[in-house]
Amino acid sequence: MVKRVAIIGAGVSGLTSIKCCLDEGLEPTCFEKHDGIGGVWQFTETAEEGRVNVYRSVVTNTSKEMTCFSDFPFPEDCPNYLHHATLLEYIRTYAEHFHLLNFIHFKTTVCSIRKHPDFASTGQWVVYTETNGEQTSNVFDAVMVCSGCYAEINLPLVSFPGIKNFKGHYLHSWEYKDQKGFEGKKVLVIGAGDSGGDLAVDISRTGAKVFLSTRSGTWVYSRISQAGWPLDMIFTTRFNKCITSLLPTCIMLKILEKKSNRWFNHENYGLIPLSRDSTFRELEKG
Ligand SMILES: Cc1cc2nc3c(=O)[nH]c(=O)nc-3n(C[C@H](O)[C@H](O)[C@H](O)COP(=O)(O)OP(=O)(O)OC[C@H]3O[C@@H](n4cnc5c(N)ncnc54)[C@H](O)[C@@H]3O)c2cc1C
Ligand SMILES: *[C@@H]1O[C@H](CO)[C@@H](O)[C@H](O)[C@H]1NC(C)=O
Repeated sequence: MVKRVAIIGAGVSGLTSIKCCLDEGLEPTCFEKHDGIGGVWQFTETAEEGRVNVYRSVVTNTSKEMTCFSDFPFPEDCPNYLHHATLLEYIRTYAEHFHLLNFIHFKTTVCSIRKHPDFASTGQWVVYTETNGEQTSNVFDAVMVCSGCYAEINLPLVSFPGIKNFKGHYLHSWEYKDQKGFEGKKVLVIGAGDSGGDLAVDISRTGAKVFLSTRSGTWVYSRISQAGWPLDMIFTTRFNKCITSLLPTCIMLKILEKKSNRWFNHENYGLIPLSRDSTFRELEKG
């Protein structure tokens, strides 16, 4: 009998899961709580609770060569790094090309998953869903959880004593859409990660003054690497992977630091991270 598979979420992971199930002769049913595909990449004009929020200016930090589905290259005329709208368009084309949309139940939230009473012998699961306030349950042979990980915010106000008395406006980057409302303002962006860097640049175009604060320093690198190649294409290669696994980590980090400082001397800016290997470890993971 054909195995029935429940897939939670129709973002990039959910869509590829539908396709893989079809390729393997399984019967996928995908549940998506919103009304469209793409997850993270579905831009909305205002931040909505329970949903990942991308700001208007988001451009991918991974090149199209490394970001594409392995069985579906980007069109030739796409730039190396993609604006979120271009990426969503690509994801739509992928879903249509492989006829994945028919397997998705939109506006349907998976509320809970329980083991079927016969689980010990069948391995089946009962999936409880809700569509427009109506609850249903269905039995599946397997469940793939593709629900993403950026929908909940972490705003640690306890780390900022006195913030309650602050007369200005404060917000989490999750709420941020664009520079509107920040024109002519003096702004402090806390945290020099992906979002912090992007937002500081964004706001600086019309703000009076922007500070980007980092607790422990950070490695700064460009999307573009040697000879103009995208950084991840140069870095994420089988050869590099091999070298990385052969060399002791401390030597590997020294080489990376040296390379990085040749392009941008972190010492000149007081940016050398306290924990020297943090970002490079991320790069290493590729
Ligand atoms: C600002 C930003 C920039 C990023 N830039 C890049 C980049 O340049 N390159 C890169 O590779 N990655 C990037 N990422 C990472 C990105 O998260 C992944 O690339 C990828 O889009 C994640 O896909 P996903 O399908 O796992 O999750 P999501 O895209 O989050 O999709 C999850 C889906 O599950 C649905 N869902 C959740 N819970 C339920 C439920 N209970 N019932 C039904 N449906 C549910 C959601 O509605 C959503 O549609 C970025 C992320 C962010 C936030
Ligand atoms: C790209 O951005 C996302 C979201 O901020 C982050 O999770 C990921 O690590 C970044 N990737 C790279 C290669 O910088």
